[in-house]
Amino acid sequence: MKTIPKIKTLRTELDTLRARGKSIGFVPTMGALHEGHLSLIRRCRKENDITVISIFVNPTQFGPGEDYKSYPRPQEKDLSLAREEDVDIVFVPTVKEMYPQPHRTSIDIKEITGQLCGKTRPGHFEGVATVVAKLFNIVSPQTAYFGQKDYQQTLVVRQLVKDLNLPLKIAVCPIIREKDGLAMSSRNKHLSPKHRREAAVLYQSLKSAKQKILTGERNVKKIIDFIRSTIKNKSSGEIDYVSCVNAADLKPLRKIEGKVLIAVAVGFGKARLIDNILVQTK
Ligand code: PAJ
Repeated sequence: MKTIPKIKTLRTELDTLRARGKSIGFVPTMGALHEGHLSLIRRCRKENDITVISIFVNPTQFGPGEDYKSYPRPQEKDLSLAREEDVDIVFVPTVKEMYPQPHRTSIDIKEITGQLCGKTRPGHFEGVATVVAKLFNIVSPQTAYFGQKDYQQTLVVRQLVKDLNLPLKIAVCPIIREKDGLAMSSRNKHLSPKHRREAAVLYQSLKSAKQKILTGERNVKKIIDFIRSTIKNKSSGEIDYVSCVNAADLKPLRKIEGKVLIAVAVGFGKARLIDNILVQTK
């Protein structure tokens, strides 16, 4: 496994591999790797000759007062996990390498970034779209792998690829969960034992809501109220949002129909957790 901090070195290395006819798959991450990340890496390994991952805590996607500074950065552990998974190349740029000053370009994707997490995290998806576009240009993979855990991010990335005619495929992988259903996240580390126990309510409420829809409930407000009251009754979490929207464009629904996304964001102490579930009606 090669650990490469410089863009130029990475490009030279990848050009050589491409010239030898190797297919290149890419998994962008911010590190603090867990089973969720590893599931993307495993799929990437299965489908490509060469697996490249990036570990870069991207400052432009964190708002003021968010956890950029305290975001976990266990570099040695991440590298040994990557090695165990037979990753070929780990790209570990510095902030200076990714954002040489002055850096004046950023990518603003309309509409789908204004809902859900975009409401409480203004500028977040602009930071994500910008860094992902840069990483795609640096790595030029055939396929890049993302998790459904960050559903809105997958829509943003798909739109970016389509609008900018980027020559790669996007693969979206299922959410990997702890035994009690909590979606794995680097931020779970910040949960107190009490909050950790309570946080299982997110997935429980999503699963029950899905069941209600599958057995005929079509009233959006009833579904949202059900999730809100379940979370309130079973935890001390502070609800940021509970949304039930059209899965294709995140637009609000008058009635539950078609492919529906139910998404939640809840604060537990310093940690803000997100989760979601898709429901296909009809
Ligand atoms: P990060 O939060 O490190 O996540 C990297 C990838 O792992 C994302 O595609 C995310 O959806 C996926 N992932 C995280 N938890 C998961 C889980 N429990 N199950 C399945 N997949 C999971 O997302 C980012 O980093 C950044 O925004 C990034 C795309 C790297 C841009 O900076």
